Amino acid sequence: MVNLHTSIGSFQFNNVLMNASGVHCMTAAELDEVAQSPAGTLVTKSGTLQPRDGNPAPRYASLELGSINSMGLPNKGFRYYLDYAIAFQAAHPDRPIFLSIAGTGPADYAEMAAVIQASDFTGLTEFNLSCPNVPGKPQIAYDLTTTEHILDDLFKVFKKPAGIKLPPFFDLAQFDAMAALLNRYPLTFINSINSLGNGLAIDAATDTALILPKGGFGGIGGAYAKPIALANVRAFRQRLRDDIAIIGTGGVTTGRDVYELILCGASLVSLGTVLQEEGLPAFTRLTQELEAEMTAKGYATIQDFQGQLKTL
Ligand code: DHB
Repeated sequence: MVNLHTSIGSFQFNNVLMNASGVHCMTAAELDEVAQSPAGTLVTKSGTLQPRDGNPAPRYASLELGSINSMGLPNKGFRYYLDYAIAFQAAHPDRPIFLSIAGTGPADYAEMAAVIQASDFTGLTEFNLSCPNVPGKPQIAYDLTTTEHILDDLFKVFKKPAGIKLPPFFDLAQFDAMAALLNRYPLTFINSINSLGNGLAIDAATDTALILPKGGFGGIGGAYAKPIALANVRAFRQRLRDDIAIIGTGGVTTGRDVYELILCGASLVSLGTVLQEEGLPAFTRLTQELEAEMTAKGYATIQDFQGQLKTL
């Protein structure tokens, strides 16, 4: 028998799988459904200071090997998700959950952080520095100076367990610089990666972009993202302090994919496109496939192979 128990800091989880923010987490009903699935934990849709409708549809499309989206941060406002999380922890004191927060400008992060700090929330807060889809707003984490200012302001007010959601990086010098910056802050975790920003997919029948916002540009997820996700988790695991855990996100379609993210150092693995495409049964299927892979490799626990990637 294999055991999928994992931990981040002092928080314990019975399964390494969770939803990726943005999928099946807009409403309390959707969040409840993830909580009732085999998932080990859940994260809310990234909440902003004010509720948002997001970008006009069509804003998500399935692709041969994944998906493209430009949702534009539709959400019910961060207070809705904070209220949900506080009620959830009261009902399930042994099931820590994640609150995701996104600014539409740098000052929003510390403002929302102060409200969460003053609240009864005792779980983990993920500050999303990598939303690629708000027209006219660059992804924050591609700008080290802005990232530094946000983290400086944030940790002046925020003393609860915190993490940040990162975009994919593609150069070893970027990993070096971002990890050196992150190691200066009391982070509990990072989540790597967000979608591959600003891809483009075209309908062959009509020669038209598949989604409407931003002239068709959108974040790419699914199998397209797998090698980039593995590399980002691995690169950050090699560079971050040992007490900063990594949530691995990106490119999961099989239990083997989950296993490989853990091999690269992930402590939890989140499901984006595969959850959107298959729905909640993805948690059952991937749990079974991960257990089968671990059994085939002779491992009984996640800790037996976490971070144990071999290189030539
Ligand atoms: C959205 C997309 C993201 O990748 C993200 O991190 C936050 C928000 C969105 O378009 O809603």
